[in-house]
Formats: sequence, C-alpha cells, structure tokens
Amino acid sequence: MSWSALSCARPRSWGARLAPLASPVRSCLGGVRPRPIVDMSYSRHFLDFQGSSIPTCMKKLVVTKLSANFREAVALRHDVPVPLPGDGDLLVRNRFVGVNASDINYSAGRYDPTVKPPFDTGFEGIGEIVALGLSASAKYTVGQAVAYMRYGAFAEYIIVPSKEAIPVPSVKPEFLTLLVSGTTAYISLKELGKLSEGKTVLVTAAAGGTGQFAVQLSKKAKCNVIGTCSSDEKSDFLKSIGCDHPINYKTENVADVLKKVYPKGVDVVYESVGGKMFDLAVNSLAIKGRLIVIGFISGYQTRTGLQPGYVEMLPAKLLRKSASIQGFFLNHYFSEYKMAMKHLLEMCENRELVCEVDFGDMSPEGKFTGLESVFRAIDYMYMGKNIGKIVVELPHPVNSKL
Ligand SMILES: NC(=O)c1ccc[n+]([C@@H]2O[C@H](COP(=O)([O-])OP(=O)(O)OC[C@H]3O[C@@H](n4cnc5c(N)ncnc54)[C@H](OP(=O)(O)O)[C@@H]3O)[C@@H](O)[C@H]2O)c1
Repeated sequence: MSWSALSCARPRSWGARLAPLASPVRSCLGGVRPRPIVDMSYSRHFLDFQGSSIPTCMKKLVVTKLSANFREAVALRHDVPVPLPGDGDLLVRNRFVGVNASDINYSAGRYDPTVKPPFDTGFEGIGEIVALGLSASAKYTVGQAVAYMRYGAFAEYIIVPSKEAIPVPSVKPEFLTLLVSGTTAYISLKELGKLSEGKTVLVTAAAGGTGQFAVQLSKKAKCNVIGTCSSDEKSDFLKSIGCDHPINYKTENVADVLKKVYPKGVDVVYESVGGKMFDLAVNSLAIKGRLIVIGFISGYQTRTGLQPGYVEMLPAKLLRKSASIQGFFLNHYFSEYKMAMKHLLEMCENRELVCEVDFGDMSPEGKFTGLESVFRAIDYMYMGKNIGKIVVELPHPVNSKL
C-alpha cells in the first residue's frame, strides 16, 4: 500500500518534576480544602504540581445490568473517588471521550462473558495528565496531553499506565478519532485488504467513525472507492473526502448500482453493517475478492447481537469466485497499534487526513457535553445520524491552571 507504515513510535523523554507539599482539592460537596496528597518519600506519585484543583470525587458511567440497551445497562455515578496513580501510572483528566458502536456490545457483556456488573465502560479518551507516579515521570509530566485506549473511559478522570499512554501534540478531538476508528481502518486494510492501485473497494457505513478512514486510506492507496450511507448530506461528505461513488442506500438499490456500474465486482469490501448489506456485499465480490468483516452493527441491538449476515450459501459463493472473507478485531492487532497511531497522527497533523468529529450539534438537544450526554450520543449513532466520529466533550468542573 502506498501509505505504508513508518517505524514504531519511540517514547519521548520528559524530565521528572518535583511535587509541592500539598494541593488544594475540591471535596465532593464542592468546598475547597487542602489534602496532603503527595508522598514525600517520592516512592509513589506526584500530584497537581501546578496547583490545578483535583476534586476528591468524580462522575463515572458504570454498567450495572447486562443489556445492549445502553440506557438500561448503564448508570451515571456522581460520587466515585478520583483514583490515585501508582508508580508507573498517569492520572488523566478526560477532555474528550469517543463513542463506539460496540459500547452497547460491551454493556451487554459480549466482550467478556465472564464479567459481571458493576464494571466501567467507554473505550477511549484524550485529556491532560494531572498527576503521575515517580516512574511515569521519567517520560511524562503534569499538563501533558495524552490519548489512550482503555476500558473505563466514560469517567471524568482515569488512571492510564504510562506504557499504554499515547503522547499527542495537544488535546484535540481529531486525535481521538484515530484511537479506535482510525487504527481499525489502517491496520485491517494494511494487513487484510492488501490494496493496490486500481482496485475497487466498497466501504459500508462509510461516513461514520471508522468508515471515513477506510475511504481515505483506500484513496491514498489509489483505489476506486464506493461508500454506502443513509443520506444525501453524508454522500456530500463522502465526496468531500475523496469517495468516488457514494451510494445513499435509502434512495438507491445498492445491489443494482453495484451490478450495473461494477459488473466485474469489487475487489475488497470493508463491511461493518451486517445482515442484508453483508449479503449483497458477498454477492458483489469480484474473482479473488476479499471481504473484511469489521462489524455488523445492524445486529447489535438484538438480544443475541449476532446477525453477521445471511450465510447459508456462503461456502459455495466463495468457492465459485476463489474469494475470501476474513474477520478483523482491533484487540487482536495490538502489535501493530503504535506504528499505526504514529502514522495516522502524522497524517492528521499534516492535514493529509480528514478526521471528522461529530459533537452532535445538530442533534435535538444539541452538543454532547458531559458524561450525561453519552446516552444521547449512543442513541444518535443508532439512529444513523452521525457524520464522522461521535465525540463527547467533558468540560472541566473546576478552574484549572493547566
Ligand atoms: N473490528 C473492530 O475492531 C472494530 C473497531 C471499531 C469499529 N468496528 C465496527 O465498525 C462499525 C462502525 O462503528 P463506529 O463506532 O465507527 O460507528 P459509526 O460508523 O460512527 O456509526 C454507525 C453508523 O452505522 C451505520 N448503520 C448502518 N446500518 C445501521 C443500523 N442498522 N443501525 C445503526 N447504524 C447503522 C449508520 O450510518 P449509515 O446508515 O448512514 O451508513 C451509523 O451512522 C461497527 O460495526 C463497529 O462494530 C469494529
């Protein structure tokens, strides 16, 4: 692929900072009182060296009942103690958290069937370090912007092991779009797509969080890109990011269009919708075509969450074309993750990649602000309204000097 990967990210070295004796903290009840939060033996953690107020309690979303209905499954807790970082940890104050289709698979316990509520939820965030452990201070400092992919992101503060943190130039929501959505498109297309100039690529849910990157990365590999979506506004967005042939499946018959315009079939499918869309994508495969199963969102709200497609005739269909279907789950490709993030961040900073963020400004109740709005944000996604990645902003509840 022409957007071939760069070498692995090398962690940047940051000078250790000494912490003050104590910092003002806001109690759960809102008052400010001093808290002796610094371990003067220097063995554990540095907190709050610039005097930013860290409250003792915070808000967090917690799964209290297994359900794919996020509103039924999840409760907003107001009185959770802000955690203290261990020696190798960062305490990150989240500024933006990402919403993912699989937030409802996670709340239904489908990621790990052995896990029992209550458990934390949310996959990714970006924010500033407000405290850190001694070992972590060898590479990071208070005030630094970091992003991370980690369960429990739907919280005002989160502990991130410094080894897992990703330094970013600033706390911009665009960088957040790369953590799950960007890397999923990047790694899956690189490892399984094997794109080359002139190939035809079909991306389903193309105007969404991960679809937008599948479209752009396929264009960078000089492919002809078709993208499905549900509105003319999304079609316009797809054109603006280089998609050669957006198809609005609400007004056009996707199977008919593909048959007519691409009679030889499509070489690679980046498929994340499932059900009928999966079926028609299989039927549209070219000889030696490949279909990458990225997800099957049309089945997630069902009780079992398992509707990957109509597969009765699948073996015969594949054999006739020597075509293949392969699954991709980001969690199985962590060895590729740092390299992918480094390259994506570079492209984002150099404006070679559009990282579209949807804060829900056009949703009925307006912008997604605060953890309370994660529920609305997930509804908005499942109504198919979003263009780009859905991001929720967490405004700081306290005045910060950071
Ligand atoms: N394998 C992995 O590691 C991995 C990682 C990240 C995401 N994913 C998968 O990628 C897909 C997209 O996830 P995302 O978080 O980036 O979401 P998203 O694309 O930002 O939002 C979901 C979009 O899916 C489309 N959609 C099509 N049929 C739908 C239906 N029946 N119900 C709801 N939406 C429908 C909607 O757009 P249109 O209807 O306009 O197309 C909607 O905007 C999901 O299947 C997800 O599980 C997989």
